[in-house]
Amino acid sequence: ARSVNLAVIPGDGIGPEVVAEGLKVLHAAVPGDVKFEITEYDLGARRWHRTGETLPDTVLEELRGHDAILLGAIGDPGVPSGVLERGLLLKLRFAFDHHVNLRPARLYPGVTSPIQARLDERGPDYRVDFVVVREGTEGPYVGNGGSLRTGTPHEIATEVSVNTAYGIERVVRDAYRRASARERKKLTLVHKTNVLVHAGGLWYRIFQRVGEEFPDVTTDYLHVDAATIFLTTDPGRFDVIVTDNLFGDIITDLAAAVTGGIGLAASGNLDVSGANPSMFEPVHGSAPDIAGTGKADPTATVLSVALMLEHLELTDAARRIEAAVAADLAERGGQQRSTSQIGDAIAARVAG
Ligand code: IPM
Ligand code: MN
Repeated sequence: ARSVNLAVIPGDGIGPEVVAEGLKVLHAAVPGDVKFEITEYDLGARRWHRTGETLPDTVLEELRGHDAILLGAIGDPGVPSGVLERGLLLKLRFAFDHHVNLRPARLYPGVTSPIQARLDERGPDYRVDFVVVREGTEGPYVGNGGSLRTGTPHEIATEVSVNTAYGIERVVRDAYRRASARERKKLTLVHKTNVLVHAGGLWYRIFQRVGEEFPDVTTDYLHVDAATIFLTTDPGRFDVIVTDNLFGDIITDLAAAVTGGIGLAASGNLDVSGANPSMFEPVHGSAPDIAGTGKADPTATVLSVALMLEHLELTDAARRIEAAVAADLAERGGQQRSTSQIGDAIAARVAG
């Protein structure tokens, strides 16, 4: 028997609704001899409104003691922009050294892409199935910068992107490993080396050097602007993409849009070393406009649960969830189902 300590942060808006379905599917998928000990943490906009706290240090330390974290979504329009992003979400990613932000982008059969006509032109065997390895602890996200002559017509704001050889190398090596384990074994570096010569140069050199350890992996480089063109004209050309924190943020929303929308996009914030708990969350936000209506699609959370199980080496359970989601999507069509109906349907397939 094995026991897993899971921290759950349902959060705000649709967060608790999609997390409930994610846990439903989790329980249907894990074998009987694996026991999930779940502790819920009340963090997010509601707590901030009530107490003014984002992430107290005592809570951070409690979270550290878990094997993994499942997060729904945080935020509501009443919280000033940046407070929860920096005080909670990014604080967790930085405190737990989540250097690999893993974001798969797969167009499941039965799901219609907004660029479907274009994809159809490429023939019946054309597949979109890639994964973005987004750096998660550096870049402009570190919050290094400031403002001079604030509020004057001569104000100057800087937002410094921090890129360390250590930080780049570990995420690049992880991306090579993932590429090497996949069928096509192709890795694309996305950056903007023609303009961001300092950071871009470092990324490019490390990408080349680490590549020598992976002679089986085919490599490719794209400037981020060109990458957006390919993502919307020929996304099937990608296998694994590695990129920095900000470019990764932007292109993974685009990748999600192209593969059926944000309702399906899963993510894992990984400390690959295993020293800290990794955190799994749908890419979407708290969608306060549809909270409580049963309209939220829990699929992104369910797929995030599958990523979590894979990370916990419960590979079989992860595969079964992915297969159940694929089967559900293949038959979904235009059906209008509620959040819990979708969760029930996927859980039933997993159990069946
Ligand atoms: C995401 C989000 C976050 C990010 C925000 C909410 C801080 O957009 O997870 O992609 O920029 O990383
Ligand atoms: Mn984002």
